[in-house]
Amino acid sequence: MLISSKINNGLHGCVNIPGDKSISHRSIIIPSISKGISEISNLLMSDDVLHTINAMKAMGVKINTFEDKIIIHGNGLNSLKKPLKDIYLGNSGTGARLLTGLLSAQNFKSALIGDESLSSRPIKRITTPIELMGGKFEYNNGTLPLHIFGKELKPISYKIPIPSSQVKSGIILAALNTKGQTTINETSITRDHTEIMLKSFGANIKIKKESDMNSIFINGKQELTSKNIYVPCDLSSSSFFIVAAMINKNSNLKLQNININPTRDGILHALKLMGGNITISNQRLINDEIIGDIEVQSSHLKGCELNEDMSKLMIDEYPILSVAASFAKTPSLFKGLKELKVKESDRLELIRFNLNQCGITCEVLNDNLFIDPRKKNKIKNNKIKTSFDHRIAMAFAIMGSKLDHDLQISNSNCINTSFPNFIKSFNKIGGNLIE
Ligand code: S3P
Repeated sequence: MLISSKINNGLHGCVNIPGDKSISHRSIIIPSISKGISEISNLLMSDDVLHTINAMKAMGVKINTFEDKIIIHGNGLNSLKKPLKDIYLGNSGTGARLLTGLLSAQNFKSALIGDESLSSRPIKRITTPIELMGGKFEYNNGTLPLHIFGKELKPISYKIPIPSSQVKSGIILAALNTKGQTTINETSITRDHTEIMLKSFGANIKIKKESDMNSIFINGKQELTSKNIYVPCDLSSSSFFIVAAMINKNSNLKLQNININPTRDGILHALKLMGGNITISNQRLINDEIIGDIEVQSSHLKGCELNEDMSKLMIDEYPILSVAASFAKTPSLFKGLKELKVKESDRLELIRFNLNQCGITCEVLNDNLFIDPRKKNKIKNNKIKTSFDHRIAMAFAIMGSKLDHDLQISNSNCINTSFPNFIKSFNKIGGNLIE
């Protein structure tokens, strides 16, 4: 359990934000199926990413881990070996969706299993398009455990019905080892780290952006060439510190080398709309990803209304954005959050429940979240329910920095999913968290 207590003197200094979780998964998987040696630095060494490393090792990929980098010895698209046992992916939805695509086009059987949360999350969103490619699976109720009967697939043209980069990336990974051209169409913007990385590894992948549709064309069976990668720091992890500085008086924080890829920087736009005091400088490209340095100060926030389109650009940030909204002057309405219900927990319900526990008026109406910070009620109960969800745990750890009562955050070990040094990093800049 984690106890989060009020802080009085603001937050100051430079925060070390870990490597980006999405890019880290891809930085393991893509070099593993490329030809040659890739050196990966600033990789996120969190539970989720370690499961992906172990998965690739279990399929015969040689991966050496050093203090400041990992080295991956890739042997090409068809070099993976049948794993000797089921592949355990812990809490990782990204690992599950991406590996489902990758393994369905290999010439061996494999099985994916996960923890309680992952075993309740929908997998059909990725098996359905792969079945159209000829893929074969066995699973119960549309969830893990998933048995994958890897085989030669055929290309498809597929319009993704759900805005999901995990689904898009899973199909792309299957298409890489499939002869012919696969076309993926998406009507919503989703994060494009897979496409960016694959281009730089020499994949035959083309993207056509139109106003209402993004089309991705992949010509399979083209071997990839190894490349060194610097994983930029994670904007989703940064957002806990950005909001913490905004809501606490006398704060000034600097965060460097943060990935501000426009397909997922919605949180920066939302916080600016709320009056957040934030500047981004030194923008540059590393491995074709946009990186910038962020400076953030205490802010007088006002509420805002965000439409459904915004949810695609910041789906992981609603827990911490809701904490920011709880300390704004006026109410906020965040629309179209259906996808939040199928994340590591039902985040929509847990945000509502825990904000209510903290005395904040918050309602869910038709997948929209309404937060009214104007009348602060007395805290009902200081116990925060996380359902082992890392982002809920960290968001309410930040909430506790502003409340007169300590918050008790259950199962806080789940923070290791994406940010193992979160507690130390927060305390170093003036936070008050005790394990
Ligand atoms: C991710 C995509 C998002 C995000 C998740 C990581 C990825 O999921 O919520 O934390 O790495 O592709 P969806 O694309 O399924 O919404």
